[in-house]
Amino acid sequence: MNAQAIDQQKLDAFLARAVGDLSAGYGGVMISIGHKLGLYQAMAEAGPVGARDLATRTHCAERYVREWLNAQVAGGYANYQPDDDSYELSPEQAVVLADAESPVFIPNAWQVPASMWFDEDKAVAAFRSGEGVAWGDHDGRLYCGVAAFYRNAYRGSLVPDWLPALEGVVDRLAAGSRVADVGCGYGHSSVLMAEAFPASEFRGFDVHQASIIAAKGHARQAGVDDRVVFETASATDYPGGPYDLICFFDCLHDMGDPLAAARHAAESLDPDGTVMLVEPFANDRLEDNVSPVARLYYAASTTLCCAHSISEGGRLVLGAQAGETRLAEVFRQAGFTRFRRAAETPFNLILEARR
Ligand SMILES: C[S@@+](CC[C@H](N)C(=O)[O-])C[C@H]1O[C@@H](n2cnc3c(N)ncnc32)[C@H](O)[C@@H]1O
Repeated sequence: MNAQAIDQQKLDAFLARAVGDLSAGYGGVMISIGHKLGLYQAMAEAGPVGARDLATRTHCAERYVREWLNAQVAGGYANYQPDDDSYELSPEQAVVLADAESPVFIPNAWQVPASMWFDEDKAVAAFRSGEGVAWGDHDGRLYCGVAAFYRNAYRGSLVPDWLPALEGVVDRLAAGSRVADVGCGYGHSSVLMAEAFPASEFRGFDVHQASIIAAKGHARQAGVDDRVVFETASATDYPGGPYDLICFFDCLHDMGDPLAAARHAAESLDPDGTVMLVEPFANDRLEDNVSPVARLYYAASTTLCCAHSISEGGRLVLGAQAGETRLAEVFRQAGFTRFRRAAETPFNLILEARR
């Protein structure tokens, strides 16, 4: 290495960033532990609290709790008052860390990188062989992590914002529509829509049988299993059309043949029906996708999305940062004549396709 080529200021700045990332990795383990033990929730309920009191409230050992609390303070995840040796979550920290129903609740999302670490050897082998890794071949934390993370976003946006952004869809759902939720995973999207639109019928399909079993449980729990049915089926052979609405929630880019999936949607759709395509937020060009959210998605895309698509034959491996232009082209080739961005959030693009 040519030492003279090193700009010390730039090195310091980049190193600070890399150490910040490393620190965040350690902190993620603390966040997961804090969530599982109910530490954040107890803090949110208690207000200013000492380590011993928090340990008592959560039935944990004080020494561990104190060290965990110190890690929270060091990372800006809690505040410390030296005068009385108390720790406290601000209202903003509590919304992100302690309120599992909040759309910005983060702790469950750490299950996803946990599963990615666990499956690192599979990823290394896949890079060398070029072969795929199917969605169902990952550590179990992936499924609950993804489902819990997306569920909160869907809770916050799907019914109040995304469906109303689609032309005429809310009126049709209120009157009674037939809806397919393709690649439904744990089925939270269907359950949320079924709760809001009791006159409509929902069918969720996924190739991952364990997810379908979990989805059935969620529908039962929510008391909507009379109008929500989940079945193991692929995006290219699910039955039951014509549908008024066909949804793809964060899954089209995972598929081995997204064009075949879009064609099957075209064939299964009522002529006046709508496809709602929810995809990870992305701009069309890599140089416009330089952000923490894009970094997260590209990383997950590498070992999860691309890997699954390749496992299904990989005719078109879109990846999680495909962007609107590439997605529009898939639907154009599948015979759709109208395609537009209906809504967006920092995490999602909500796209509407009509025949
Ligand atoms: C990132 S998960 C999203 C799950 C769910 N839609 C959600 O938003 O939580 C992608 C899902 O697509 C499913 N999937 C992948 N390829 C599929 C295919 N060819 N047909 C149907 N589902 C598929 C996976 O099994 C997985 O459940």
